[in-house]
Amino acid sequence: PRRLIIDCDPGHDDFAAIALAVTSGVFEIEAITAVCGNAPLHRTSFNALAIADALGTSIPVYAGAVAPLLHRYEFPAAFHGVTGLDSTGATLPPPRRALMPGHAALEILARVNAAPGEITLVVLGPMTNVALALALDPEMAGKVKELVFMGGGLIGGNVTPRAEFNLWADPEAAAIMLRSGIKATMFGLDVTNRAWLDKDDLARIRAAVPGANPVADIIQFYTDRSGDVAAGRVPGPALHDTCPLAWLIDPALFTIESLNVTVATQPGPHYGATDADRRPWAPEGGPRIGVALDLDRPAVARHVTDALVEAAR
Ligand code: BDR
Ligand code: CA
Repeated sequence: PRRLIIDCDPGHDDFAAIALAVTSGVFEIEAITAVCGNAPLHRTSFNALAIADALGTSIPVYAGAVAPLLHRYEFPAAFHGVTGLDSTGATLPPPRRALMPGHAALEILARVNAAPGEITLVVLGPMTNVALALALDPEMAGKVKELVFMGGGLIGGNVTPRAEFNLWADPEAAAIMLRSGIKATMFGLDVTNRAWLDKDDLARIRAAVPGANPVADIIQFYTDRSGDVAAGRVPGPALHDTCPLAWLIDPALFTIESLNVTVATQPGPHYGATDADRRPWAPEGGPRIGVALDLDRPAVARHVTDALVEAAR
């Protein structure tokens, strides 16, 4: 099985992504590392631990960066609530075990160094932990099997008109990752905005267990907070973070192009925005990364719904 470290800021869609990873049965998840992002670190690391427990795993969970490298912002409670994993009703049971000692960035570095070419990094939040690891040892870039991340987008933003939340939260960290030459694939809003579940999918998750259903109630909270759902643009919530995992499970679900991607780090309206040079000739400078531009939405939704149904049981 493919060996993964999942770096995340749970987060409702992070939860769905971890559920997909665990229930797929095709990965060996070595560690879950948490970063501040959707909520402060003490919340996201607590949630990561609760999720790992609720899914019946003993995956070690490590806490990482308390703050982005440079950017200071208010944690956005609008989409994920104050806890980062708010629910309309039942919540996950509190974790039965503790966080592992040690910093997420050091753990990522140690595990990659112990198994060069073996470990895939899945990044579902701001890139801070990975940037810290790369700053400690730039050679890590050549030892990671590959890095897949949710963030950015060529179609525009969600937190500002131009920037997507994960890359906006720590653009400098994202720039360090892009500059490192690490083999990377980006799942930005181009595809993740379309990774929505429909009403039948939500009904299946609700029907998975009679009575208290924390998984359905957690997803319901996120659905209720979706502006796109409220405006009738999509029938259900876009579970952004599930896309990189869905691709690792079945690459045929996405169309990927190799492009030269940059992230804006200068202050101003483009701060945190990603840009890609789509001219057919190879541009000078920056390395190319894979960019997901299309997806088989119903197939992705089926994978995610199956995972959440299993997680609910
Ligand atoms: C990303 O930001 C967070 O709110 C989600 O968990 C996802 O990682 C979407 O822009
Ligand atoms: Ca996330």
